Amino acid sequence: MIRKRVGILISGRGSNMSALIEAAKAPDYPAEIVGVLSNRAAAPGLAVASSEGIATAFLAQSKFPTREMFEDVMTQILESWDVEIVCLAGFMRVLGEDFVNHWAGRMINIHPSLLPLYRGLHTHERALADGATVSGCTVHFVTPGLDEGAPILQAKVPVLPGDTPETLAARILIEEHRIYPEALRRLALGDLSTLH
Ligand code: GRF
Repeated sequence: MIRKRVGILISGRGSNMSALIEAAKAPDYPAEIVGVLSNRAAAPGLAVASSEGIATAFLAQSKFPTREMFEDVMTQILESWDVEIVCLAGFMRVLGEDFVNHWAGRMINIHPSLLPLYRGLHTHERALADGATVSGCTVHFVTPGLDEGAPILQAKVPVLPGDTPETLAARILIEEHRIYPEALRRLALGDLSTLH
């Protein structure tokens, strides 16, 4: 089986990255994680990826005169790893149009809400403030509009009485770790028939 070469962009903990790395250990998984790039040197996920024998890179946007130059170098690094698919996994930077267009149809993100609800930050706080009874997560294609690309998979979880942003986030994170590897599997196979 030919496995698609995947690069992951992170900024922090990297638990979704770890879920993808674990899934890709299955011999019949159609993708392999070939590199992890962080825009934060202290991202704990970098050490995890290294310990798995995966190539890593750190790139500080502040070292570049413009966002476009920073993102061009990100693309160069990803292409030096022969990456075919990019997964954003807690990458806390809004990406510019050139970068997004370069990877169009080949770049996906996980977002902790039922998009189109609660694009952007503080999703759990906003869901709780609205009195939502259901929330969840979405894997979607990345397009220039923030969290606006077509969804690939969603999972719902109940919002329970007494939930805080932290308890709700933890319940949703379990589902993130389930649907992100499944969405990547479908993209790698070109099997997105369940797109809605
Ligand atoms: C996750 O909640 C993800 O949905 C959001 O950022 C968080 C990243 O967590 N985009 P982790 O770094 O994958 O643990």
